[in-house]
Amino acid sequence: MWAAEVSSSVTRAVVTKLAPTSLMYVPAGLRNLDPALRRAWHPLCRSSEVTATPQSFQLLGERYVAYRSLDTAVRVFLDRCPHRFAPLSLGSCEGNALRCGYHGWLFDGAGRCVEIPALGAEATVPARAQLSGPAEVFESHGMVFVAPLPPLTPKPCVAADGDTSFLKGDLPIIETRGNAGLLADNFLDMAHFPFVHANTFGADQAREVPHFSVGRDGYAFSATYEHEFLNREDPGVAAGIRPLVQRRRLTYRYSAPFHLELAIEFLDAGGSNVIGFFLTPLDDERVRIYSSLWRDDLDGSDERMRDAIDFEVAVLEEDLRLQSRYESLELPLDVTAELHTRADRSTLELRRVLRELVDAATAL
Ligand code: FES
Ligand SMILES: [Fe+2]
Repeated sequence: MWAAEVSSSVTRAVVTKLAPTSLMYVPAGLRNLDPALRRAWHPLCRSSEVTATPQSFQLLGERYVAYRSLDTAVRVFLDRCPHRFAPLSLGSCEGNALRCGYHGWLFDGAGRCVEIPALGAEATVPARAQLSGPAEVFESHGMVFVAPLPPLTPKPCVAADGDTSFLKGDLPIIETRGNAGLLADNFLDMAHFPFVHANTFGADQAREVPHFSVGRDGYAFSATYEHEFLNREDPGVAAGIRPLVQRRRLTYRYSAPFHLELAIEFLDAGGSNVIGFFLTPLDDERVRIYSSLWRDDLDGSDERMRDAIDFEVAVLEEDLRLQSRYESLELPLDVTAELHTRADRSTLELRRVLRELVDAATAL
């Protein structure tokens, strides 16, 4: 037996056996820069960050330049001029085209070089004078998503977006040390609430996670369950109409690799709340977190939305205090490497989905 063992006999030497964890083989997990992730959709930035002035954004260890051209399309290319590899984000937008800020080469909206000023008007433009870009780009619910290679995974979407009964609010973008897989695991996890979120919503009554099932759909899955929580946001609590400990129903909708929509129905106070989490692996150790709220219980009040955003930021900071401190920044994909319980069904499914994505991308 490898659990710590201490003899109570005074006539025998005290023996302590510890599991030789430093010698155990732990298979490599999913890191931020796993090549398989290039076969999926990732957020590059918020739509509001893209203007006619080219901007540089990082994804999967590479830099991309993005700008909004005259025809209002978002155009995205690798942030590297094919001439002398200067960052194109220091150039300028001319209609639909992009001009490099170093020697002024001009690239049309499809990335083809159409002008080399140093060669004059009669110049023949080399065929290789062409910008590289991601395989696909699309905008949805105020965000720009790119797939570096043709994606295997579905486009991320939020059902509540576009429903006018919901008021939308964006949390500030957060950049943190971390692993996107571990953060997705954290956002799906149901057993940490009373421990990590004791100062916000985590109720002691929710220590035991009720039975729930996970419904799989390709590279996506969903799970629903109900639990008790501390409803500090409910004005009815301050007014003495309702108790602080209330019930809510949580429906998680995950899609690979790192998109999560959490729909919360307040069973006692009424109303609902949708939280979207979208994670961008920036480099091997850093992640950008985009989070937005869609709420139909705030009477359209911008002030209550600001309070709700502040509250969610506090919740997120509680998570990141722990998540940013993992020594090993990778999500184990061998499901025998860790211990799983019935309370971990959805985070176990996360590992299975990502394992399948890695296997499928590797087989191509
Ligand atoms: S480096 Fe871009 S034009 Fe020379
Ligand atoms: Fe959390």
